[in-house]
Amino acid sequence: MKILLLGSGGREHALAWKIAQSPKVTQLYIAPGNAGTAGVGENIPIKSDDFDSIRTFVLEKGVDMVVVGPEDPLVKGIYDYFKQDEALKRVPLIGPSRKGAVLEGSKDFAKGFMQRHGIPTAAYRTFTGETLDEGLAFLETLKAPYVLKADGLCAGKGVLILPTLDEARRELREMLGGMFGDASSSVVVEEFLSGIECSVFVLTDGTHYKILPEAKDYKRIGEQDTGLNTGGMGSVSPVPFADKAWMQKVEDRIIRPTVQGLAEEGIDYKGFIFFGLINVEGEPMVIEYNVRMGDPETESVMLRIKSDLVDLFEGVADGTLHQKTLEIDERSAVCVMLVSGGYPEAYEKGYPITGIGDVDGSIVFHAGTAMKDGQVVTAGGRVIAVSSYGNDKDEALARSFREAQKIHFEKKYFRSDIGKDL
Ligand code: AMP
Ligand code: GLY
Repeated sequence: MKILLLGSGGREHALAWKIAQSPKVTQLYIAPGNAGTAGVGENIPIKSDDFDSIRTFVLEKGVDMVVVGPEDPLVKGIYDYFKQDEALKRVPLIGPSRKGAVLEGSKDFAKGFMQRHGIPTAAYRTFTGETLDEGLAFLETLKAPYVLKADGLCAGKGVLILPTLDEARRELREMLGGMFGDASSSVVVEEFLSGIECSVFVLTDGTHYKILPEAKDYKRIGEQDTGLNTGGMGSVSPVPFADKAWMQKVEDRIIRPTVQGLAEEGIDYKGFIFFGLINVEGEPMVIEYNVRMGDPETESVMLRIKSDLVDLFEGVADGTLHQKTLEIDERSAVCVMLVSGGYPEAYEKGYPITGIGDVDGSIVFHAGTAMKDGQVVTAGGRVIAVSSYGNDKDEALARSFREAQKIHFEKKYFRSDIGKDL
Protein backbone atom coordinates (compact mmCIF):
# COMPACT_ATOMS: atom_id res chain seq x y z
CA MET A 1 0.00 0.00 0.00
CA LYS A 2 1.04 3.57 -0.65
CA ILE A 3 0.04 5.90 2.18
CA LEU A 4 0.08 9.68 2.28
CA LEU A 5 0.19 11.26 5.75
CA LEU A 6 -0.63 14.96 6.05
CA GLY A 7 1.07 17.21 8.61
CA SER A 8 4.49 18.23 9.86
CA GLY A 9 4.78 18.01 13.66
CA GLY A 10 5.84 15.59 16.34
CA ARG A 11 2.45 13.92 16.13
CA GLU A 12 3.01 13.22 12.46
CA HIS A 13 6.52 11.85 13.02
CA ALA A 14 5.10 9.46 15.63
CA LEU A 15 2.25 8.43 13.28
CA ALA A 16 4.72 8.00 10.41
CA TRP A 17 7.02 5.87 12.63
CA LYS A 18 4.09 3.60 13.49
CA ILE A 19 2.64 3.44 9.96
CA ALA A 20 6.08 2.62 8.50
CA GLN A 21 6.24 -0.50 10.71
CA SER A 22 3.23 -2.02 8.97
CA PRO A 23 4.10 -4.88 6.61
CA LYS A 24 1.24 -3.67 4.39
CA VAL A 25 3.04 -0.42 3.56
CA THR A 26 5.32 -0.26 0.52
CA GLN A 27 5.61 3.52 0.37
CA LEU A 28 4.92 6.26 2.91
CA TYR A 29 4.74 9.89 1.85
CA ILE A 30 4.46 12.76 4.31
CA ALA A 31 3.24 16.19 3.20
CA PRO A 32 4.98 18.37 4.12
CA GLY A 33 6.71 16.44 6.96
CA ASN A 34 9.87 17.54 8.80
CA ALA A 35 13.50 16.44 9.13
CA GLY A 36 12.41 13.43 11.20
CA THR A 37 9.67 12.10 8.93
CA ALA A 38 12.22 12.09 6.10
CA GLY A 39 13.86 9.19 7.94
CA VAL A 40 10.78 6.93 7.82
CA GLY A 41 9.23 7.99 4.52
CA GLU A 42 9.47 10.51 1.72
CA ASN A 43 8.62 14.14 2.39
CA ILE A 44 6.56 15.88 -0.27
CA PRO A 45 6.58 19.70 -0.38
CA ILE A 46 2.80 20.13 -0.34
CA LYS A 47 0.94 21.98 2.41
CA SER A 48 -1.63 19.89 4.25
CA ASP A 49 -4.48 22.22 3.25
CA ASP A 50 -3.55 22.53 -0.45
CA PHE A 51 -6.29 20.12 -1.58
CA ASP A 52 -5.74 20.53 -5.33
CA SER A 53 -2.02 19.69 -5.10
CA ILE A 54 -2.84 16.74 -2.83
CA ARG A 55 -5.36 15.53 -5.42
CA THR A 56 -2.80 15.67 -8.23
CA PHE A 57 -0.21 13.87 -6.12
CA VAL A 58 -2.59 11.10 -4.98
CA LEU A 59 -3.70 10.38 -8.53
CA GLU A 60 -0.20 10.58 -10.04
CA LYS A 61 1.38 8.24 -7.49
CA GLY A 62 -1.58 5.91 -7.05
CA VAL A 63 -1.83 6.56 -3.30
CA ASP A 64 -4.08 3.97 -1.61
CA MET A 65 -4.91 5.78 1.63
CA VAL A 66 -4.63 9.26 3.10
CA VAL A 67 -4.19 9.83 6.84
CA VAL A 68 -4.79 13.33 8.19
CA GLY A 69 -2.71 14.48 11.19
CA PRO A 70 -3.83 18.06 12.01
CA GLU A 71 -7.34 19.52 12.36
CA ASP A 72 -6.98 22.28 9.82
CA PRO A 73 -7.55 20.25 6.60
CA LEU A 74 -10.40 18.39 8.32
CA VAL A 75 -12.19 21.56 9.39
CA LYS A 76 -11.70 22.86 5.82
CA GLY A 77 -13.44 19.74 4.49
CA ILE A 78 -10.75 17.48 2.98
CA TYR A 79 -12.91 14.37 3.59
CA ASP A 80 -15.80 15.85 1.59
CA TYR A 81 -13.39 17.05 -1.10
CA PHE A 82 -12.31 13.42 -1.60
CA LYS A 83 -15.84 11.99 -1.45
CA GLN A 84 -17.18 14.47 -4.00
CA ASP A 85 -14.45 13.81 -6.55
CA GLU A 86 -15.07 11.00 -9.06
CA ALA A 87 -11.40 10.00 -9.19
CA LEU A 88 -10.62 10.41 -5.48
CA LYS A 89 -13.68 8.90 -3.87
CA ARG A 90 -12.22 5.40 -3.97
CA VAL A 91 -9.21 6.49 -1.91
CA PRO A 92 -10.00 6.09 1.80
CA LEU A 93 -9.21 9.12 3.94
CA ILE A 94 -8.76 8.68 7.69
CA GLY A 95 -10.46 11.68 9.27
CA PRO A 96 -14.01 12.97 9.76
CA SER A 97 -16.20 14.84 7.29
CA ARG A 98 -16.47 18.62 7.53
CA LYS A 99 -19.65 18.23 9.59
CA GLY A 100 -17.81 15.92 12.01
CA ALA A 101 -14.83 18.25 12.26
CA VAL A 102 -17.18 20.93 13.59
CA LEU A 103 -16.89 19.09 16.93
CA GLU A 104 -13.48 20.78 17.13
CA GLY A 105 -14.15 23.73 14.81
CA SER A 106 -17.00 25.15 16.89
CA LYS A 107 -17.09 25.05 20.69
CA ASP A 108 -20.77 26.03 20.58
CA PHE A 109 -21.60 23.08 18.31
CA ALA A 110 -19.63 20.71 20.56
CA LYS A 111 -21.47 21.93 23.67
CA GLY A 112 -24.85 21.62 21.94
CA PHE A 113 -23.96 18.12 20.75
CA MET A 114 -23.06 17.03 24.29
CA GLN A 115 -26.28 18.52 25.63
CA ARG A 116 -28.38 16.73 22.98
CA HIS A 117 -26.78 13.39 23.84
CA GLY A 118 -26.61 13.72 27.61
CA ILE A 119 -22.80 13.74 27.70
CA PRO A 120 -21.40 15.21 30.94
CA THR A 121 -19.78 18.63 30.46
CA ALA A 122 -19.66 22.04 32.18
CA ALA A 123 -22.87 24.12 32.19
CA TYR A 124 -22.65 26.86 29.56
CA ARG A 125 -24.30 29.47 27.40
CA THR A 126 -23.19 31.00 24.10
CA PHE A 127 -23.29 34.73 23.36
CA THR A 128 -22.75 37.03 20.37
CA GLY A 129 -22.33 40.80 19.99
CA GLU A 130 -26.12 41.18 20.06
CA THR A 131 -26.49 39.29 23.33
CA LEU A 132 -23.50 40.85 25.15
CA ASP A 133 -25.70 42.21 27.95
CA GLU A 134 -27.15 38.75 28.59
CA GLY A 135 -23.61 37.38 28.63
CA LEU A 136 -22.54 39.93 31.23
CA ALA A 137 -25.58 39.02 33.32
CA PHE A 138 -24.86 35.27 32.94
CA LEU A 139 -21.33 35.81 34.27
CA GLU A 140 -22.87 37.15 37.49
CA THR A 141 -24.63 33.82 38.04
CA LEU A 142 -21.32 31.88 37.91
CA LYS A 143 -18.62 31.49 40.55
CA ALA A 144 -14.97 32.48 39.95
CA PRO A 145 -12.86 31.60 38.05
CA TYR A 146 -14.64 32.32 34.76
CA VAL A 147 -14.11 30.35 31.54
CA LEU A 148 -14.54 32.12 28.18
CA LYS A 149 -14.04 30.24 24.91
CA ALA A 150 -13.94 31.69 21.42
CA ASP A 151 -16.29 29.57 19.32
CA GLY A 152 -13.89 29.01 16.40
CA LEU A 153 -10.34 27.70 15.95
CA CYS A 154 -7.68 30.02 17.41
CA ALA A 155 -4.53 27.87 17.36
CA GLY A 156 -5.07 26.90 20.99
CA LYS A 157 -5.30 30.49 22.21
CA GLY A 158 -9.06 30.93 22.32
CA VAL A 159 -9.70 29.86 25.93
CA LEU A 160 -9.42 32.41 28.75
CA ILE A 161 -9.68 31.53 32.42
CA LEU A 162 -10.19 34.67 34.49
CA PRO A 163 -9.93 34.97 38.25
CA THR A 164 -12.31 37.92 38.77
CA LEU A 165 -15.73 38.98 37.53
CA ASP A 166 -14.36 42.35 36.41
CA GLU A 167 -11.76 40.72 34.17
CA ALA A 168 -14.30 38.25 32.80
CA ARG A 169 -16.68 41.10 31.91
CA ARG A 170 -13.91 43.07 30.22
CA GLU A 171 -12.61 40.05 28.25
CA LEU A 172 -16.10 39.02 27.13
CA ARG A 173 -16.58 42.53 25.71
CA GLU A 174 -13.21 42.33 23.94
CA MET A 175 -13.74 38.85 22.53
CA LEU A 176 -17.16 39.73 21.14
CA GLY A 177 -15.64 42.97 19.86
CA GLY A 178 -13.33 40.99 17.54
CA MET A 179 -10.30 40.03 19.68
CA PHE A 180 -9.89 36.77 17.72
CA GLY A 181 -11.61 38.00 14.56
CA ASP A 182 -14.46 35.82 13.32
CA ALA A 183 -13.40 32.98 15.65
CA SER A 184 -14.72 34.97 18.63
CA SER A 185 -17.87 36.44 17.07
CA SER A 186 -19.55 33.83 19.31
CA VAL A 187 -18.23 33.08 22.78
CA VAL A 188 -19.04 30.13 25.03
CA VAL A 189 -19.17 31.09 28.72
CA GLU A 190 -18.99 28.07 30.96
CA GLU A 191 -18.72 26.82 34.49
CA PHE A 192 -15.17 26.19 35.74
CA LEU A 193 -14.41 22.52 36.48
CA SER A 194 -11.73 21.54 38.93
CA GLY A 195 -9.77 18.30 38.55
CA ILE A 196 -6.97 16.52 36.70
CA GLU A 197 -7.18 16.31 32.92
CA CYS A 198 -6.78 13.20 30.80
CA SER A 199 -6.81 12.72 27.02
CA VAL A 200 -8.73 9.71 25.73
CA PHE A 201 -8.57 8.68 22.08
CA VAL A 202 -10.70 6.43 19.94
CA LEU A 203 -10.58 5.31 16.35
CA THR A 204 -14.04 4.93 14.84
CA ASP A 205 -15.49 3.73 11.55
CA GLY A 206 -18.70 5.60 12.29
CA THR A 207 -20.38 2.62 13.98
CA HIS A 208 -17.72 0.72 15.92
CA TYR A 209 -14.82 2.09 17.90
CA LYS A 210 -11.55 1.03 19.49
CA ILE A 211 -10.29 2.81 22.60
CA LEU A 212 -6.60 3.66 22.26
CA PRO A 213 -4.28 4.14 25.26
CA GLU A 214 -5.08 7.30 27.23
CA ALA A 215 -2.47 9.92 28.08
CA LYS A 216 -1.93 13.05 30.13
CA ASP A 217 -0.23 16.05 28.58
CA TYR A 218 1.56 18.96 30.24
CA LYS A 219 0.52 22.29 28.77
CA ARG A 220 2.29 24.97 30.79
CA ILE A 221 5.85 26.10 30.04
CA GLY A 222 6.99 26.13 33.67
CA GLU A 223 7.52 23.39 36.21
CA GLN A 224 4.63 22.67 38.58
CA ASP A 225 2.30 23.82 35.80
CA THR A 226 3.18 27.50 35.94
CA GLY A 227 3.55 30.14 33.25
CA LEU A 228 2.10 30.37 29.77
CA ASN A 229 0.27 27.65 27.85
CA THR A 230 2.23 25.85 25.16
CA GLY A 231 1.43 23.26 22.50
CA GLY A 232 2.47 20.64 25.08
CA MET A 233 5.68 19.96 27.00
CA GLY A 234 5.40 16.21 27.48
CA SER A 235 3.02 13.32 28.00
CA VAL A 236 2.57 10.15 29.99
CA SER A 237 0.59 6.97 29.21
CA PRO A 238 -1.11 5.22 30.96
CA VAL A 239 -2.68 7.68 33.41
CA PRO A 240 -2.93 6.10 36.88
CA PHE A 241 -6.39 7.46 37.81
CA ALA A 242 -7.82 6.27 34.47
CA ASP A 243 -8.27 2.76 35.87
CA LYS A 244 -10.73 0.15 34.64
CA ALA A 245 -13.70 1.53 36.58
CA TRP A 246 -13.07 5.11 35.46
CA MET A 247 -12.56 4.11 31.84
CA GLN A 248 -15.82 2.15 31.98
CA LYS A 249 -17.62 5.37 32.98
CA VAL A 250 -15.86 7.15 30.13
CA GLU A 251 -16.98 4.51 27.65
CA ASP A 252 -20.60 4.34 28.89
CA ARG A 253 -21.22 8.05 29.45
CA ILE A 254 -19.00 9.68 26.86
CA ILE A 255 -17.53 7.48 24.11
CA ARG A 256 -20.57 5.37 23.18
CA PRO A 257 -23.04 8.30 23.28
CA THR A 258 -20.66 10.35 21.13
CA VAL A 259 -20.24 7.71 18.43
CA GLN A 260 -23.97 6.94 18.48
CA GLY A 261 -24.81 10.66 18.50
CA LEU A 262 -22.71 11.27 15.40
CA ALA A 263 -24.46 8.42 13.60
CA GLU A 264 -27.93 9.62 14.72
CA GLU A 265 -27.18 13.11 13.44
CA GLY A 266 -26.11 11.70 10.07
CA ILE A 267 -22.51 12.84 10.48
CA ASP A 268 -19.97 10.83 8.50
CA TYR A 269 -17.04 10.14 10.84
CA LYS A 270 -14.17 7.78 10.07
CA GLY A 271 -11.15 8.76 12.07
CA PHE A 272 -9.81 9.68 15.47
CA ILE A 273 -11.84 11.32 18.22
CA PHE A 274 -9.88 12.97 21.01
CA PHE A 275 -11.83 13.44 24.22
CA GLY A 276 -10.27 16.13 26.43
CA LEU A 277 -11.58 14.96 29.81
CA ILE A 278 -11.36 16.19 33.37
CA ASN A 279 -11.76 14.01 36.44
CA VAL A 280 -14.15 15.85 38.77
CA GLU A 281 -14.22 13.95 42.07
CA GLY A 282 -14.03 10.61 40.28
CA GLU A 283 -16.52 11.51 37.54
CA PRO A 284 -15.26 12.08 33.97
CA MET A 285 -16.52 15.20 32.20
CA VAL A 286 -15.72 16.52 28.73
CA ILE A 287 -13.72 19.75 28.44
CA GLU A 288 -13.45 19.58 24.66
CA TYR A 289 -13.48 17.40 21.58
CA ASN A 290 -10.72 17.32 19.01
CA VAL A 291 -11.06 15.49 15.71
CA ARG A 292 -7.46 14.28 15.48
CA MET A 293 -4.81 12.79 17.72
CA GLY A 294 -3.24 14.95 20.43
CA ASP A 295 0.24 16.40 20.35
CA PRO A 296 2.36 15.48 22.37
CA GLU A 297 0.11 12.58 23.46
CA THR A 298 0.68 10.74 20.16
CA GLU A 299 4.40 10.62 20.91
CA SER A 300 3.53 8.37 23.89
CA VAL A 301 0.38 6.65 22.66
CA MET A 302 1.91 5.25 19.43
CA LEU A 303 4.53 3.41 21.50
CA ARG A 304 1.77 1.53 23.31
CA ILE A 305 -0.10 0.26 20.24
CA LYS A 306 1.22 -3.20 19.41
CA SER A 307 -1.18 -3.95 16.57
CA ASP A 308 -0.71 -2.89 12.98
CA LEU A 309 -2.14 0.64 12.82
CA VAL A 310 -2.68 0.38 9.06
CA ASP A 311 -4.79 -2.75 9.57
CA LEU A 312 -6.93 -0.73 12.00
CA PHE A 313 -7.16 2.10 9.45
CA GLU A 314 -8.44 -0.40 6.87
CA GLY A 315 -11.14 -1.39 9.35
CA VAL A 316 -12.02 2.29 9.76
CA ALA A 317 -12.29 2.74 6.00
CA ASP A 318 -14.35 -0.44 5.39
CA GLY A 319 -16.61 -0.22 8.44
CA THR A 320 -15.11 -3.45 9.81
CA LEU A 321 -13.25 -2.04 12.78
CA HIS A 322 -15.06 -4.51 15.09
CA GLN A 323 -13.31 -7.39 13.30
CA LYS A 324 -9.85 -5.95 14.02
CA THR A 325 -7.79 -6.49 17.14
CA LEU A 326 -6.14 -3.74 19.10
CA GLU A 327 -3.36 -5.02 21.30
CA ILE A 328 -1.90 -2.63 23.82
CA ASP A 329 1.60 -2.71 25.30
CA GLU A 330 1.41 -3.02 29.08
CA ARG A 331 4.53 -0.93 29.55
CA SER A 332 4.47 2.81 30.25
CA ALA A 333 5.42 5.30 27.57
CA VAL A 334 6.31 8.95 28.07
CA CYS A 335 7.64 11.85 26.06
CA VAL A 336 9.63 14.89 27.11
CA MET A 337 9.55 17.82 24.71
CA LEU A 338 12.72 19.82 24.05
CA VAL A 339 11.77 23.38 23.17
CA SER A 340 13.46 26.58 21.97
CA GLY A 341 14.44 29.02 24.74
CA GLY A 342 11.86 31.83 24.87
CA TYR A 343 8.98 29.67 23.61
CA PRO A 344 5.96 30.12 23.79
CA GLU A 345 6.90 33.79 23.39
CA ALA A 346 9.49 35.00 20.85
CA TYR A 347 12.36 32.60 20.12
CA GLU A 348 15.11 32.11 17.52
CA LYS A 349 15.13 29.41 14.83
CA GLY A 350 17.91 27.85 12.80
CA TYR A 351 20.19 26.56 15.58
CA PRO A 352 22.08 23.36 14.65
CA ILE A 353 20.92 20.26 16.57
CA THR A 354 23.59 17.71 17.50
CA GLY A 355 23.67 14.45 19.40
CA ILE A 356 20.48 12.86 18.00
CA GLY A 357 22.57 9.94 16.74
CA ASP A 358 23.88 9.29 20.28
CA VAL A 359 20.41 8.58 21.66
CA ASP A 360 20.08 4.84 22.21
CA GLY A 361 17.55 4.32 25.00
CA SER A 362 14.71 6.46 23.57
CA ILE A 363 12.88 7.19 20.36
CA VAL A 364 13.40 10.68 18.95
CA PHE A 365 10.43 12.33 17.25
CA HIS A 366 11.04 15.59 15.45
CA ALA A 367 8.50 18.38 15.92
CA GLY A 368 9.94 21.71 14.79
CA THR A 369 13.07 20.78 12.83
CA ALA A 370 14.33 21.35 9.29
CA MET A 371 17.34 20.38 7.18
CA LYS A 372 19.71 23.21 6.28
CA ASP A 373 22.85 22.43 4.27
CA GLY A 374 22.79 18.81 5.39
CA GLN A 375 22.41 19.78 9.07
CA VAL A 376 19.28 19.34 11.24
CA VAL A 377 18.34 22.74 12.69
CA THR A 378 15.62 24.08 14.98
CA ALA A 379 12.59 25.34 13.06
CA GLY A 380 9.87 25.77 15.69
CA GLY A 381 9.10 26.35 19.36
CA ARG A 382 8.68 22.69 20.16
CA VAL A 383 11.71 21.02 18.58
CA ILE A 384 12.07 17.36 19.54
CA ALA A 385 10.10 14.82 21.59
CA VAL A 386 12.20 12.25 23.45
CA SER A 387 9.92 9.22 23.91
CA SER A 388 10.69 6.17 26.05
CA TYR A 389 9.28 2.92 27.34
CA GLY A 390 9.60 1.77 30.93
CA ASN A 391 8.13 -0.85 33.22
CA ASP A 392 6.52 2.10 34.98
CA LYS A 393 6.35 5.80 34.24
CA ASP A 394 9.30 6.63 36.49
CA GLU A 395 11.57 4.25 34.64
CA ALA A 396 10.39 5.63 31.29
CA LEU A 397 10.83 9.23 32.48
CA ALA A 398 14.32 8.58 33.83
CA ARG A 399 15.24 7.22 30.42
CA SER A 400 13.82 10.23 28.54
CA PHE A 401 15.55 12.72 30.88
CA ARG A 402 18.87 10.88 30.51
CA GLU A 403 18.66 10.70 26.70
CA ALA A 404 17.47 14.32 26.48
CA GLN A 405 20.87 15.37 27.86
CA LYS A 406 22.55 13.94 24.76
CA ILE A 407 20.73 16.26 22.36
CA HIS A 408 22.15 19.75 22.07
CA PHE A 409 21.00 23.02 20.56
CA GLU A 410 21.39 26.56 21.73
CA LYS A 411 18.87 27.64 24.42
CA LYS A 412 17.37 24.14 24.72
CA TYR A 413 14.76 23.93 27.50
CA PHE A 414 12.56 21.13 28.83
CA ARG A 415 10.44 20.51 31.90
CA SER A 416 12.07 18.06 34.27
CA ASP A 417 8.87 17.48 36.27
CA ILE A 418 6.80 15.71 33.56
CA GLY A 419 4.73 12.92 35.16
CA LYS A 420 5.81 13.80 38.70
CA ASP A 421 2.30 14.94 39.73
CA LEU A 422 0.67 11.57 39.00
P1 AMP B 1 -9.47 23.90 25.34
O1 AMP B 1 -8.87 24.78 24.28
O2 AMP B 1 -10.95 23.76 25.28
O3 AMP B 1 -8.69 22.62 25.47
O4 AMP B 1 -9.15 24.59 26.72
C1 AMP B 1 -7.83 24.84 27.09
C2 AMP B 1 -7.63 24.45 28.52
O5 AMP B 1 -8.43 25.29 29.35
C3 AMP B 1 -8.08 23.04 28.86
O6 AMP B 1 -7.12 22.08 28.56
C4 AMP B 1 -8.30 23.17 30.33
O7 AMP B 1 -7.07 23.09 31.03
C5 AMP B 1 -8.84 24.56 30.47
N1 AMP B 1 -10.31 24.55 30.54
C6 AMP B 1 -11.16 24.63 29.50
N2 AMP B 1 -12.44 24.58 29.92
C7 AMP B 1 -12.41 24.49 31.27
C8 AMP B 1 -13.40 24.40 32.28
N3 AMP B 1 -14.71 24.44 32.01
N4 AMP B 1 -13.00 24.28 33.56
C9 AMP B 1 -11.66 24.26 33.85
N5 AMP B 1 -10.69 24.34 32.95
C10 AMP B 1 -11.04 24.46 31.66
N1 GLY C 1 -2.33 18.02 23.58
C1 GLY C 1 -3.50 18.75 23.29
C2 GLY C 1 -3.80 18.88 21.87
O1 GLY C 1 -3.25 18.23 21.01
O2 GLY C 1 -4.68 19.67 21.56
